[in-house]
Formats: sequence, structure tokens, C-alpha cells
Amino acid sequence: MFPRNGAEEEEVLEELRRKTADDLTFDSGRILGSMCTHPHPLSVKIIEEFIDRNLGDPGLHVGSQRVEREAVDMLANLLGLERGYGHIVSGGTEANILAVRAFRNLSDAEKPELILPKSAHFSFIKAGEMLGVKLVWAELKEDYTVNVKDVEDKITDNTIGIVGIAGTTGLGVVDDIPALSDLALDYDLPLHIDAAFGGFVIPFAKALGYEIPDFDFRLKGVKSVTIDPHKMGMVPIPAGGIIFRERKYMDVISVLAPYLAGGRIWQATITGTRPGANALAVWAMIKHLGFEGYKEIVRKAMELSRWFAGELKKMPGVRLIREPVLNIVSFSTENLETVEGELKKRGWGISAHRGYIRIVIMPHVKREHLKGFLGDLKEILGVDVNGC
Ligand SMILES: Cc1ncc(COP(=O)(O)O)c(C=O)c1O
Repeated sequence: MFPRNGAEEEEVLEELRRKTADDLTFDSGRILGSMCTHPHPLSVKIIEEFIDRNLGDPGLHVGSQRVEREAVDMLANLLGLERGYGHIVSGGTEANILAVRAFRNLSDAEKPELILPKSAHFSFIKAGEMLGVKLVWAELKEDYTVNVKDVEDKITDNTIGIVGIAGTTGLGVVDDIPALSDLALDYDLPLHIDAAFGGFVIPFAKALGYEIPDFDFRLKGVKSVTIDPHKMGMVPIPAGGIIFRERKYMDVISVLAPYLAGGRIWQATITGTRPGANALAVWAMIKHLGFEGYKEIVRKAMELSRWFAGELKKMPGVRLIREPVLNIVSFSTENLETVEGELKKRGWGISAHRGYIRIVIMPHVKREHLKGFLGDLKEILGVDVNGC
């Protein structure tokens, strides 16, 4: 019920704390199945200081708009471009929708179709439905990367573009993007890379010596990339990123916003009013951590993932779905649903999907948390084995 009279600040805060007391928190180390993490303290300070900036009306906040452009350029730079075109958006979902929208608007296909791997994130289902684009799902190979031959077989006159995934949601697998890029160039189709998760992992993992295929604008067929700072970028939610290789992709998705206090602009994002503070936090985290800082975060996450995968492999009754590529480890057990339910009852933030449980080794996940998890898993499987 809408209250007639307001309550004291302290009282409101207390009530909120009580009401959310059963939320899992990232710093508790119990959330093992999320791609988000506790944001870096500097980015939290920035959100507080610049909370009122609205990039939906950039004429009012021209400095913030300049900073957003610099953040986009730094992301583009990380992805192999000197200059990029795009925005800091609400997340991977919005970024993927914008890419599909650009591809559709640039194409003259009568019945637009997009070819994407069966491993693609469900945000593409929203994009397809909203934009009237038929999704054509390409098969995966045994290693869970997309079957490039199947992608080629599915190209028709109605194809508006191809999607490749650099860090799949379930397994963290990276598609053969060099082959997809060649294919896209051969058929003169744009290739979008969903690196919502992998974008802030792969460049650093490669620098650390992990063998991962190229996935970004260094490949000529790649025309757009989704890269989310609110995943491994340590920036508070919401902060996604969409980067286009050329300006024309932005032009075809921009609409005129005629009445704004800061003056008329052409707006490409799905959201109108949108948080400037988060874009500033993206800029600030990149400046503060730099390539070396992110590399260190990724080093720890990758090493811990390999240790965890090794422990799982030793455990009877557990099957690793595949060797980890990034910092995601997925495994299956017998009676998976029961095991999932038991783990949840013990307070672990995980879920089973597509026949496996996915553990994302985010920066808030430490070895002692994983040891606790492995201990519980062992007990649960023991209970199961004894038929109790
Ligand atoms: C590969 C991939 N793309 C897109 C998304 C959607 O991102 P968001 O939840 O930020 O909209 C996710 C989310 O997990 C993802 O894993």
C-alpha cells in the first residue's frame, strides 16, 4: 500500500535490510553461477558522485558524453580497432539487440534471417521477436563450438548476418571466429561477435599465454562486438557495451530525439534516459586497472578454474562437460536435479541447465569458497550413492 506519511530514513533503511536479508551477496562467496560480481570500490564511488548524469540527454552532460566516447574507444582499442562507434548500454541483451537491428536495417532482405549458434544467449530470441528477424540455429560440433559448415549451409538470400560467440553462457566456449570471419567475407555478410562475457577475459588470457582463437576486430569480417563491463569488467550493473567497426551501423539505428533539454540528438540506444554514471565507471575502471590490472584479475580466475576443474575430475560421480576454455567450469552428475536442489538448500547460488551445473569463477569466488562447495557436493553425492 502507498503510505500516507513518510518514514524516517533510518527506519526505511532498516526495513529494506530486513526485507533483503535472504538475498545472496557476492562477497559471501556463495554465488557461483553468475557472471556478475561485487563491483570495484572505485566504481561504486563514481556511481555515487555522478549519479545524476543522463546520457539520454547528452546536450546537458557534454562532459559525460565525451567520457562515454573515450570509454567506447578504449574498448574498441582492446578489441583491435583504433576508433570504434557504439555505446555503453544496459547490458549484453541491449547490445545484441542493437547489433541485430543494425544488420537488419542495412539489409534489403525481404524476410530477414540471422544465423547463430545453438549455444547463443536467449537475448537473441528477444531480438528476433522484436525485430521480426527469423533465427536460424546452427548446429554445434562435439567440442560445443559452432559447426561452421552448417552455418554456411544455412546462408540464403534472406540472411542479414551471422553471429559467433566468444565465451558461451553455459560453457565459456569460443567459436572458430577466424573461420566465421572468412565465411562472412566470402558471402559479404556482417559478423557479430557476442563477447559479452569473453570480451573482458580473452584479450588478457591470450596475453597470459592461453591458446584461444582470435575473436575481435582484428578479423576483417567482424563488424560488431558485444562486450560487457558489468561482467568481468568490475563495473556496477548496468554496464554493457556495443562496439561497431563503422559509423554506418550506428547511423541506421539512430532516431531523432527532438525535444530534449540539451538539444536535438540522434539516438541509437534502446533506452532513452540512461545512466551516465555507469559509463563514467567503465572509463574509470579501465583507466584505474589498465591492461595489466585486468590481466591479473583474469590470471587468478583462470588458474582457479583449472584447479577447480581438476578437483571435480577426481570426484567419483562427477563428469566435467569439457575442459574449461575461459573461467567457466561446467559439470554433470547423476540425478542432477536432486543434486542441484540439495546444493541450493545449502545456500549455493547455482543452477542446472542443459544437463549441467555451471560454475563461473568470478573475482569474488575464492579457493576457500570452492573448497566448501566441493565438500558439500561430495556429501550430497555420498548421500545419493547410499540411496538415502
Ligand atoms: C554470451 C552472453 N551474451 C549476452 C548476455 C546477456 O547479458 P545481460 O544479462 O547483461 O543482458 C549474457 C548473459 O549472461 C551472455 O552470457
